[in-house]
Amino acid sequence: MPSKLDRFCAAWQRMPAYACPVCGQTMKLSGMSLTCGKGHSFNVNKKGCVNFLTRKSESFYNEELFAARRRVFLSGCYLPVVQAMDDLLSEGTRCILDAGCGEGWYLNEILARHPESCGAGIDLSKDAILQATDQPCDALWTVGDLRRLPFVSGTFDAVLNVLTPAAYHEFARVLSPSGLLIKVYPGREYLRQLREARGLPLYEEGEVAAHLSASAVIERTIHVAACQPVTEALWADAVSMSPINQDLTAQEKEEIARHPAKEITIDLWVTRCRLPEQQRSEQIDQT
Ligand SMILES: C[S@@+](CC[C@H](N)C(=O)[O-])C[C@H]1O[C@@H](n2cnc3c(N)ncnc32)[C@H](O)[C@@H]1O
Ligand SMILES: [Zn+2]
Repeated sequence: MPSKLDRFCAAWQRMPAYACPVCGQTMKLSGMSLTCGKGHSFNVNKKGCVNFLTRKSESFYNEELFAARRRVFLSGCYLPVVQAMDDLLSEGTRCILDAGCGEGWYLNEILARHPESCGAGIDLSKDAILQATDQPCDALWTVGDLRRLPFVSGTFDAVLNVLTPAAYHEFARVLSPSGLLIKVYPGREYLRQLREARGLPLYEEGEVAAHLSASAVIERTIHVAACQPVTEALWADAVSMSPINQDLTAQEKEEIARHPAKEITIDLWVTRCRLPEQQRSEQIDQT
């Protein structure tokens, strides 16, 4: 069986697309080192990923959160979202970037449906990327910042951006001229039961959609709305997987987990857009 490092190298051979995060020059892979013409060098980890961050980034997106996300994904609750994303992808989409890929489930599902394609996933969280390397697909798993994507301009036919801040100017730069963005963002009822368990109001829709409309040409949107039954164990995972609960202590999360809802609402907008080449917005949105 190929090692994780072999799988990273296989992905690199199909898509040698890194640009040096320090100077922007293209990078070459030699042995386990990615090096640019100016001599900046980054090691590929034996676990099959590269870390381009020059300083440590602290985040509540940790190992426990991503492990819980993975269990929720494997339950099938989010498969209609992958189906919608896939329906919006064009034929012949070859190189795919998941910007803010978390533990890699979405990218792996999309690549499983497009075995001819190659993928890269980037996330600020090292914990996320280490878990992503367990996914069966070959991909360029990358710890890095989506606001300064370490990829050569024009590389990708599609950028996926799922429940993650967007940097539209960077997405436009790394997309090919005919490339498209698939953006997934919450609707008002998204994870309603989790919010109710904390006395939080429903999700405030509008800001992300407004920023998206101002930054991109929206071609088609699919609304995924479903109430999924949850077991007690799945409810506990839903409590741990959501950033809305990351201000709580472990005991507070356990308390919410002890009172499971019967179902959980998935209410997500899945949108296919084109980014105008001249797009230069430096803003990032929040989801
Ligand atoms: C709610 S999670 C979604 C992750 C994944 N798309 C999913 O649905 O499971 C948001 C993700 O965005 C990542 N993120 C936030 N800011 C980022 C940035 N500037 N660059 C890269 N990733 C970022 C976080 O580390 C986290 O994994
Ligand atoms: Zn360099």
